[in-house]
Amino acid sequence: MATKQKKSVKKVASKKAPAAQYGYFDDAAKEYVLTTPATPIKWCNYVGTLNFGGIVDTTGGTLVCKGDPALNRITKYIAQMPCSDFKASTIYIRIKEAKGYTVFSPFVVPTLTKMDKWECHVGLSYMRWIAECCGLRTQVTIFVPTGSNTLLQDIQVTNLGGAAKEVDIIPVYEFSHFEAEKQLTNADWVPQTMTLKGHWEKDGHVVLEQYAYMKRDYAVNYVTANCKVGSFDGDRRVFLGANEMGSWAAPLSLANKELSNSECDRGDNIAALMIHGGKIAAKKTFRCCTQLGQEQSLKVAAKAIAKYRDLKNVDKAFDELAKFWENYLSTIQVKTPDASFNTMVNVHNPRQCHTTKNWSRYLSLYQLGYGTSRGIGYRDSTQDLMGVMSHMPEEALVLTKNLISVQRPEGNAMHQYAPLALAEDNGNEANAGDSREKAGVKDAKGNPMYADWYGDDHLWIILTVASYLKETGKMDFLKEEIPFYVAGKKRKDRPKGTVLEHLKRALKFTREHLGKHNLPLLGFADWNDCMNLPLGAESTFNTALYAKALLEMMDIEEALGDKKAVEMYKGWYEDVKAAFNKSAWDGKWWTRWFDKDGNGYGVAKAKYGKIYCNGQSWPVIAGIAFGDRAKQGMDSLNKLLNTKYGVKSSTPGYRGFEPAVGGISTYPPGAKENGGIFLHTNPWVMIAETILGRGDNAFQYYNQINPASKNGILDVFESEPYCYPQNILGDEHKQFGMGRNAWLSGTSTWTYQAATQFIIGIRANYKGLVVDPCIPSKWDGFEATRKFRGATYQITVKNPKHVCKGVAKMVVDGKEIDSNVAPIFTKGIHKVEVTLG
Ligand code: GLC
Repeated sequence: MATKQKKSVKKVASKKAPAAQYGYFDDAAKEYVLTTPATPIKWCNYVGTLNFGGIVDTTGGTLVCKGDPALNRITKYIAQMPCSDFKASTIYIRIKEAKGYTVFSPFVVPTLTKMDKWECHVGLSYMRWIAECCGLRTQVTIFVPTGSNTLLQDIQVTNLGGAAKEVDIIPVYEFSHFEAEKQLTNADWVPQTMTLKGHWEKDGHVVLEQYAYMKRDYAVNYVTANCKVGSFDGDRRVFLGANEMGSWAAPLSLANKELSNSECDRGDNIAALMIHGGKIAAKKTFRCCTQLGQEQSLKVAAKAIAKYRDLKNVDKAFDELAKFWENYLSTIQVKTPDASFNTMVNVHNPRQCHTTKNWSRYLSLYQLGYGTSRGIGYRDSTQDLMGVMSHMPEEALVLTKNLISVQRPEGNAMHQYAPLALAEDNGNEANAGDSREKAGVKDAKGNPMYADWYGDDHLWIILTVASYLKETGKMDFLKEEIPFYVAGKKRKDRPKGTVLEHLKRALKFTREHLGKHNLPLLGFADWNDCMNLPLGAESTFNTALYAKALLEMMDIEEALGDKKAVEMYKGWYEDVKAAFNKSAWDGKWWTRWFDKDGNGYGVAKAKYGKIYCNGQSWPVIAGIAFGDRAKQGMDSLNKLLNTKYGVKSSTPGYRGFEPAVGGISTYPPGAKENGGIFLHTNPWVMIAETILGRGDNAFQYYNQINPASKNGILDVFESEPYCYPQNILGDEHKQFGMGRNAWLSGTSTWTYQAATQFIIGIRANYKGLVVDPCIPSKWDGFEATRKFRGATYQITVKNPKHVCKGVAKMVVDGKEIDSNVAPIFTKGIHKVEVTLG
């Protein structure tokens, strides 16, 4: 049935966007091109993967790790230092003049030299700078070849004209202790162990080898170049000079023809190479390439070193990276009437999903990857996986299995783990996250006051596994045996269960942990990490997530042909739906939590936090809110929580710290979970609106937070316009509209799912590819290409009646079919024509 939208979302006045002052999107190159280094805050990009890679910021700072940012860090990037400071790496370009040397960095930092022209191209897993200064054009490209353990820095210096110029190139890296936190907290043991050695080869190449002493025989870092090197420095004191009264902005050693060939048996290890580019004639280019890598030994590294000393292989590796992305992105491509939507959906959003899949909430300029405070988060990564499932299901499966392996036999899950700790298999790999902070708090009778488990973690995995099964049809995965997590026991000694058994136990855990209103308990927290009510509290978010997981489980059991199981889960679903409808309606919207005494949170009579965003969207997503109440909840959300920069997570914010409610009240009103625009919640609002058939609303919610559409208001937004931040300050805050915590946010996976599966409406199910768009009524239609189970679907949607939702007709390869599910073909190109109306 066609849905026309009656009521539209509160209109928000939109001023004409001022001209972009920091950079622009180059859609053809799939890049964002920055034209000034003076971004409002630090901006960055990611290179490589969690296996080897990290962050490259827009002024050349690099944070590299292998396998685990906390436990195997390579470079010493201190994110809190000002933008203008050296951060773990740079390149100096030195020109010999009659009176001495002129030195500048093409990254601007740390020499802070004014450039004639400067661009930083934020590309798909690479950064490229083009800097013109002192008659030279320097182009630097940083990337990690696919599947390698090497960061390459391809440097090309061109003499723009006039007399020949004698040029030296001095790339520098500073190393970190492998245990990143110790580097910051221990100035005794750490420096005594840090070691750097130079190995000259006969032909003038050098390899600098670096390790913390105990890693000498296990994991060594190295820096080398494809060309001969005049000299090197491995000791920071020697390189900067005068007992470090020389600075990164002007290292004293650069006044000398050669560096000192300093090795370092303790202290601050660096790798600086003196590469003599020689006299570069007018219009000529000197090119060289550095490598920073880690292997078990230099012997093991020898192959990679030789490979990337050949510039042809460097070019090949760059082409391969481009091919990887071309293939990855080709899974879904759309052509809609909205240019910013296309830019995000075709390039930057799926790219960000790849990043969150790799780094969870472990390593960013905000989540610093020190110690065990973060790691691979159970709830975070289970959600992230859904954003890459169509593009790389088999890679996604590896992480899916790791997550399943930290589910406890009781059915609930550990909150997070560090990847290298997981590999160690010592019975201490995973931990209970922030709940550890309150683990010892007891009530008057000496009983613990808080749960040491989260009420939502274990339920997400059902959605993740379902998305794998729907995408691939590989139902046998459900039969694979994976251990449960038992602290203190080695993996081989732990009880095992099939994947299906893991999912069943997750549901059973929640079914057996209900509160006073027969609603699922909160545990230490639900999705909203910051609301920590004492034991006995119930969460309507967990209620809806449980219901949604039950729906997915019914579909799985249906696909397996187990009718009895379908009936059982249907019964559980109806029970929780009834309990929810009986107790959670507050009059104009849904309650968000009940404490152990039955007091409601997210209710009209509350002073702070009267209404919560997730409290309204999730019941619609799970189908436990229906009819008028579903709409009324969403309309109340619109009225009370919507702003021009996105939907706030709650209102009004708490006005001071209230120990009884915990983390949420540590923030000032308007920040983060306390009335801020917590972006992760916004795509759920979009999805709920599409379920209600209100495509105009859904699209407005989409546009409000689309970072690409903020390129003209970056002095307000401040954050990178090419990826979603985690939060934007709300209207209770003076800095309303300011984005923070870019890159690693669940916003990425869910906005991508909202856009592709619900607005565009193309999603996999067990029978085929569903096409069920819910679009702005003004659209005439759109086109999309979707790869699914070996076949390519070329989809055209027409909207002659200008409705939001409702498929009137579907024609597949010329034949009309009587549903909106295109069949599974396994190969070939297939035309799908859909008419709405
Ligand atoms: C952060 C956490 C995530 C949590 C969210 C809301 O993004 O990583 O796990 O759901 O905050 O509190």
